[in-house]
Amino acid sequence: MSAVIEVTHLRKSYGSLVAVNDVSFEVYEGEIFGMVGPNGAGKTTTIEIIEGLRCPDAGQVRVLGLDPTQDYDRLVYRIGVQLQEASLPSRVRVGEILNTIGAFYDRTVDAETLLGQLGLAEKRNAFFGKLSGGQKQRLFAALALINDPEVVFLDEISTGLDPKARRNIWEFVRGLRNQGKTIFLTTHYMEEAEALCDRVAIMDYGRIVALDTPANLIRSLEGEQRMIFELLDNVDVSFLEEISGVTRVRRHHREVTVYGRNSRFIEDVLLALRAHGAHYRNLRTVEPTLEDVFLALTGRTIREQEES
Ligand SMILES: Nc1ncnc2c1ncn2[C@@H]1O[C@H](COP(=O)(O)OP(=O)(O)OP(=O)(O)O)[C@@H](O)[C@H]1O
Ligand SMILES: [Mg+2]
Repeated sequence: MSAVIEVTHLRKSYGSLVAVNDVSFEVYEGEIFGMVGPNGAGKTTTIEIIEGLRCPDAGQVRVLGLDPTQDYDRLVYRIGVQLQEASLPSRVRVGEILNTIGAFYDRTVDAETLLGQLGLAEKRNAFFGKLSGGQKQRLFAALALINDPEVVFLDEISTGLDPKARRNIWEFVRGLRNQGKTIFLTTHYMEEAEALCDRVAIMDYGRIVALDTPANLIRSLEGEQRMIFELLDNVDVSFLEEISGVTRVRRHHREVTVYGRNSRFIEDVLLALRAHGAHYRNLRTVEPTLEDVFLALTGRTIREQEES
């Protein structure tokens, strides 16, 4: 497999804050590579250094064999970039801006087809300022793709989209891979990384804490299972942690999640709840997901991380 993106010992600080801390990885040709992690993990800093938009303090980056800082003028024709935060004057029209940006490139894809694929065909004459957040997001995806790039960078492409629009974007991104493009995306949705990416780098506090296929990452949990229920009484459930086979207990308001290793622990948890007079409803067991991988690696859920 040939590496389209090579990152070695990358480091970037803002004052005393180390945003990216000795990060190394490769992205292979034709894969969907995802970088996932909570707010502030360093995803945007990493992706924008690779795009040539920010300068690293240390380390090496190669994209299609080029240095994104020094060879930016050549690279810009071969990559497509959708930024996490971008804007346009409110009185530019969708179709106009796509054609205008397209005119900078020798090679482009058909703007109408692109708008159709992204569900924006009816909006071709609409003003940018009149688009919804999700439509703006998709317009920026179209702008990233107008030059038929070999490598596509998508920074939080599905943030702000409703579940249906998010699934449409996933299909669209898979379609890009089927055309042979390489995709590097960031997301803080674990389920998006799991559903969409061939390989995933989990980032936390500026470091990659794990990198593999979603299936291998989940397998690394060695069969940890999860049961979830809603507590009807306001009891302290820390007694559940004493049960053998239980690895962890998390509580979010009324919802309790108990992690354990052998399926016997489920029965033991139910017995303990009964013994303590704790009533519950909506009990279910759940197969492990990437969210559980993050928890096992960091001791926190993404949600806790983002609330703190
Ligand atoms: N231009 C900047 N100047 C100063 N600090 C910055 C700058 N950009 C990012 N940071 C800080 O660096 C850290 C990493 O930010 P970054 O935007 O790379 O994270 P992220 O993983 O993309 O987060 P999010 O999920 O919220 O987009 C954060 O603590 C952020 O506050
Ligand atoms: Mg970001």
